[in-house]
Amino acid sequence: MRGIILAGGTGSRLRPLTTITSKQLLPVYDKPLIYYPLSVLMLAGIRETMVICTPDHEQAFRALLGNGEHLGIELQYATQAAPRGLADALLIGREFIGDEQICLILGDNIFYGHDFGFTLRQEVEKLDGCTLFGYTVADPERYGVAVLNESHHLVALEEKPSAPRGNLAVTGLYLYDNEALDYATELRPSARGELEITDLNRRFLDAGRARLVDLGRGTAWLDTGTADSLLEAGQFVQVLQKRQGVQIACLEEVAYRMRFISGDDLGALAARIGGPASEQGRYLTRVLETS
Ligand code: G1P
Repeated sequence: MRGIILAGGTGSRLRPLTTITSKQLLPVYDKPLIYYPLSVLMLAGIRETMVICTPDHEQAFRALLGNGEHLGIELQYATQAAPRGLADALLIGREFIGDEQICLILGDNIFYGHDFGFTLRQEVEKLDGCTLFGYTVADPERYGVAVLNESHHLVALEEKPSAPRGNLAVTGLYLYDNEALDYATELRPSARGELEITDLNRRFLDAGRARLVDLGRGTAWLDTGTADSLLEAGQFVQVLQKRQGVQIACLEEVAYRMRFISGDDLGALAARIGGPASEQGRYLTRVLETS
């Protein structure tokens, strides 16, 4: 399976924060936003990922994450010059994806929960068509909305409906079989001029090959689209990290726990980050000593 992080967009709702940088590079407490979706792909067991960003910010993403080797993964970069929609990411990544299955995640989505990585790996394992992840929200009209029948089967998908038929939002994490590439090629732009991910998901639904996994109340799915939600996401991470003494989306730690890198590699990363003189260096050393 190949991973794709869509980190494009102009971030217009976050100006002036995004005047000179990408939204996905902004801090969520102590890490750049893109660390969170990248950690999700790593927790899914994915080691080959393409980051799609705007041409203006490609250098910054490369400077931040490099080729991924230090994390035991392979990162590639591609650009999306105009916001042509989420489904456009599959067209951009077509060659990189090849014949593989796909895990697409939006660069501004944060997931956190007990056993979330385990759930995800299980879903990757049994993927057959398309798997979506639902989350109950108070404001479904802002999202893609999933409608389930009495036996909890997915029966309809609507993009930002003005009168939602339920509270289950479709989160920005999508698992697809390779036929998604063909479906994406056939999509036509919506009224807002974008290739809508919901239209792609509907193709799978119409073919009887889409299912939805409800993430439930034990998981947090956080939005970072506005200054308030960005700050709240940072506060959420801060509260949990301070209380538990463990980090959310620490890429070096995830790489080590997923066995993408060895203990020696982690020790070397801890030293490179600043060793005992830096908080992050001390944290990584503690991870090494206590696992
Ligand atoms: C997009 C999708 C929507 C989904 C949301 C998740 O919305 O179109 O279906 O629920 O991401 O973050 P957008 O970010 O384009 O408003």
